[in-house]
Amino acid sequence: MIVYHEPSRTYTLHTKHTTYQLAVHPTGVVQHVYYGPRLRDCDLTGLLRYADRGFSPNPEEAGADRTFSLDTTPQEYSTCGVGDFRLPSIEFELPCGSRTADLRYARGEIRRGKYALEGLPAFYGGEEEWETLSLVLRDDAAQAEVELLYGVLEEYDLITRSVLVRNVGEGPVRLCRCASLCLDLPRSDLDMVTFNGAHLMERCPSRAPLRPGIQSAGSVRGASSHQHNPFVILCDREANEDYGLCYGAMLLYSGNFQAAVETGQFENARLVMGVNPYHFTWTLEPGGVFSAPEAALVCSEAGLGEMSRRFHRAIRDRLVRDHLRGRRKPVLVNNWEATYFDFDPEKLLAIAREAAALGVELFVLDDGWFGKRDDDNSGLGDWQVNTDKLPGGLEALAPTINGLGLSFGLWVEPEMVSEDSDLYRAHPDWALRVPGRAPARGRNQLVLDFSRREVRDHIYAQLHRVLSSAPVTYVKWDMNRSLSGVWSAALPPQRQGEVYHRCVLGVYEMLERLRTDFPEILVEGCCGGGGRFDGGMLYYTPQIWCSDNTDAMDRLRIQYGTSFCYPVCTMGAHVSVVPNEQNGRVTPLETRGIAAMSGAFGYELDLSKCTPEEKACICRQIETYKARWELLQLGDYYRLTDPFREGPYTAWAQVSPDRREALVSVVFGGARAVSPFRVLKLKGLDPGARYQVDGAGCWGGDALMHAGFPLPAVKGDYQAVQLHLTAVDDQLPPCNCVLIESGSINI
Ligand code: GLA
Repeated sequence: MIVYHEPSRTYTLHTKHTTYQLAVHPTGVVQHVYYGPRLRDCDLTGLLRYADRGFSPNPEEAGADRTFSLDTTPQEYSTCGVGDFRLPSIEFELPCGSRTADLRYARGEIRRGKYALEGLPAFYGGEEEWETLSLVLRDDAAQAEVELLYGVLEEYDLITRSVLVRNVGEGPVRLCRCASLCLDLPRSDLDMVTFNGAHLMERCPSRAPLRPGIQSAGSVRGASSHQHNPFVILCDREANEDYGLCYGAMLLYSGNFQAAVETGQFENARLVMGVNPYHFTWTLEPGGVFSAPEAALVCSEAGLGEMSRRFHRAIRDRLVRDHLRGRRKPVLVNNWEATYFDFDPEKLLAIAREAAALGVELFVLDDGWFGKRDDDNSGLGDWQVNTDKLPGGLEALAPTINGLGLSFGLWVEPEMVSEDSDLYRAHPDWALRVPGRAPARGRNQLVLDFSRREVRDHIYAQLHRVLSSAPVTYVKWDMNRSLSGVWSAALPPQRQGEVYHRCVLGVYEMLERLRTDFPEILVEGCCGGGGRFDGGMLYYTPQIWCSDNTDAMDRLRIQYGTSFCYPVCTMGAHVSVVPNEQNGRVTPLETRGIAAMSGAFGYELDLSKCTPEEKACICRQIETYKARWELLQLGDYYRLTDPFREGPYTAWAQVSPDRREALVSVVFGGARAVSPFRVLKLKGLDPGARYQVDGAGCWGGDALMHAGFPLPAVKGDYQAVQLHLTAVDDQLPPCNCVLIESGSINI
């Protein structure tokens, strides 16, 4: 619900559990007033206080009043060069050469439904569930209108933000910065959590108290990156999973981004998040509009766990567009780690045959099926089947796979080109490259200039042909290097600052075409694993390969970090061989299965080489997954331990929304003798219900949460158990708690 209160000129945005208020000051500056737990309708502008502060200038409209300064008042969208010295949200380059921005309120509108952002990912939903607040601000010197957009998805406690910049003058308008979100908080005693890492170890949380100055996370790699994620949290210093005020901010963007927080001189904090200003400029012709990517905010007064669950629900139901919604996604097998480039139809069919017998439903042919591609030095850009390797092409292979009872999927990497390819030989200027500079190669490949329509059209036509040639139901869309030498032969020098962003828009446009033309294809995103795991991609690819690291123990950490914003069903996770290909660790197959099924589940190993015992175990895993997928993929997710802290085990649980059922997964670390008796306290259960625990009797919800469940002692490294809990009917006579003996749980 959005309410406008004329006497105080406040707009108040209510979600089910949160309230956000902003006010229009008599000067026309739009001030931020409050964001936090839900309040009744009220005017909170009394919270805004004014004082004459040294070295804080006063705008013209303040007249003789020296207490109003842009430098000190909290704002909805910060300007630059006109008296606010903190992080700017927007910056114009005026025709005179000045780089400033100054905004004053012109008009506001509250309307039903959600605003639209052309060509950009965005949360969606029905007219009846969304409300939009549009505030139009003007910068007369820049001849521009800046429209701040707020979407309120009340039931999901989600507030989205975006910004449209419109050229309302006669000449060009040049933007040098345009953030999606500015959030001015009246306090700085907060922790900032960012999610950082590297290829093979993505999204490791890092938490630190805000300190004076600017702290930030961001990417200049052309993709949101393995190194930092466009999701940040600001929270109470003492906030934990279950307690404390937390703000989560995600940016639905897959390119260069920046999320920066500045702690100001008066113990306040400003978060600015959006497209990274690095090498960004945008020229708007008269009437032209620039749309900043959407950002989304969640506030939880009940700790990080509840914040994550709010994001999970909203992303699952109102961001991901999944034609399989409400249905189980197929269990897949991917041949990458099984064969790499070295395959022929025999090898592939041997894996597929075994997979079908074990209950797998989808066979994915990874890299190496096209062009001249026997290693990663050539072939990208030539999206025709290599019939030397696959005689008869996909037209022969896919139906044979179908005949085994499996659907068929295919890997592609459309944004890239190898210099050793027909495409590059024909169109060398289609690769991004700075004139006069030698290109830097990544994986010995270059990046195509997706800002250019003709480049995208050419690649798309090839993909369309391939995907129409066979019954393909799944595509893995990969991207295996960072962008460098970013320069487009199609744009003049003064517009080169648009190339990074135009490339991202090009990727989105291609993915949208793919969705439209092949609505039945499930597209999984990938970028050397999780290098582009963000809300932007999730709008087009309902799942993303979480990491190239398939080691179960490392995956516990990667999936844990990822879970702070993104739901389990979006995280591609596969069981692979041991010793693990990335780190050499040996973990039990059961453990690998338990780690992978808390993700978009599949296998990535040569199933034809598995022993009978391994096959039996895989069969059981697939049966468990099929029986419990709803709980695993759609249940409320509870992190029970932090795998980054030294501890004997990692545990998490999925609980059905009605709290009648739960699945608890526990993965132990290295073996030790005489281990202490361990008790695991569960979360999210109904304290008044009694639960039947698989093979371990009946327990009260209150007991399981407050006293805990006795974990079995396990032998050997990296063992795992899964406990399935179902609430038993209240009419039944009281249960007796059966204390289990070490290792007696049926798993
Ligand atoms: C990337 C992906 C892998 C695999 C290879 C193929 O690294 O993340 O899963 O598809 O490319 O080259």
